[in-house]
Amino acid sequence: MEESPENLLIDIEGGICTITLNRPKNLNVFNEKTLDEFYNVLEDVSKNAAVKVVVLLSACEKAFTAGADIKEMVDKDSDGGRKFAQRGHRIARKLETMPQPVIIGVHGYVLGGGVEFSCACDIRIAAEGSIFSQPEIDIGVIPGWGGTQRLSRIVGIAKAKEMIYTGKRVDANEAKDIGLVNHVVPKEKLQEAVMTMAKTIASKGKLALFDAKKSINQLYESFIEEGLKYEIDRWSELFETHDQKEGMKAFLEGRSPEYKDE
Ligand code: CAA
Repeated sequence: MEESPENLLIDIEGGICTITLNRPKNLNVFNEKTLDEFYNVLEDVSKNAAVKVVVLLSACEKAFTAGADIKEMVDKDSDGGRKFAQRGHRIARKLETMPQPVIIGVHGYVLGGGVEFSCACDIRIAAEGSIFSQPEIDIGVIPGWGGTQRLSRIVGIAKAKEMIYTGKRVDANEAKDIGLVNHVVPKEKLQEAVMTMAKTIASKGKLALFDAKKSINQLYESFIEEGLKYEIDRWSELFETHDQKEGMKAFLEGRSPEYKDE
């Protein structure tokens, strides 16, 4: 990559690449700039022969992320909405298909795109007190970065529907109960737990490790693209509706939305 990313910290040591989201004043919300930086970093790392395992963390005290930047989305039309969705989709797809296993350590708010990117990772570890939610329904849209496909596969269709239809918050312990995260650890031990797992995985042979990821992914590789494309189509059509504009404006103005079902 030509320039260092502004909103991400990168560290490579002992075969482990740690990528830390670093937009703390904005709750690590993903604007277009951060999305593009994130994708470019992942693209580089995926080709780096010295990296066997990737770790994702957040440098924001309150959140892994509050999701996609609603201020950037609110006024988009369907074409703009589609391009915004595609920016997130290519990141999730890269996390999912890059050769290296990806371990994500989350704390605080893990909202919208935060859940969606987590679900594209191989292993999820949460700090106690983490709060997971797909709140898109409350701003007049649906999960737009693969949540309808990957969350459903990880927690099962019934739990995913409940989360996506209600926007409800799921705490770390419930997230573990429904299989959304592998482990819950005290917040001060999160980084240690993630790095211990990363070191264990990095100590294995790369050939078998990468083949294990590819082989497990074959479980759904034949149909995931189709489901993701369907989601992007539905998401971008919603940007032609009154309710998407109203839902996002209402959030930014701190009031309840008044939907017209149009
Ligand atoms: N985009 C833009 N701004 C956001 C934001 C977001 N996703 N989340 C929070 N903010 C802003 C708020 O507008 C507020 O800005 P101001 O200080 O300028 O008013 C600031 O961050 C702090 O937010 P709150 O005042 O709401 O703080 P809080 O502590 O009461 O609540 C929160 C924090 C629980 C994270 C709350 O802000 C919240 O629920 N955010 C959720 C946003 C959301 O719906 N995210 C999903 C977006 S869609 C998506 O990610 C996926 C996709 O499919 C593409």
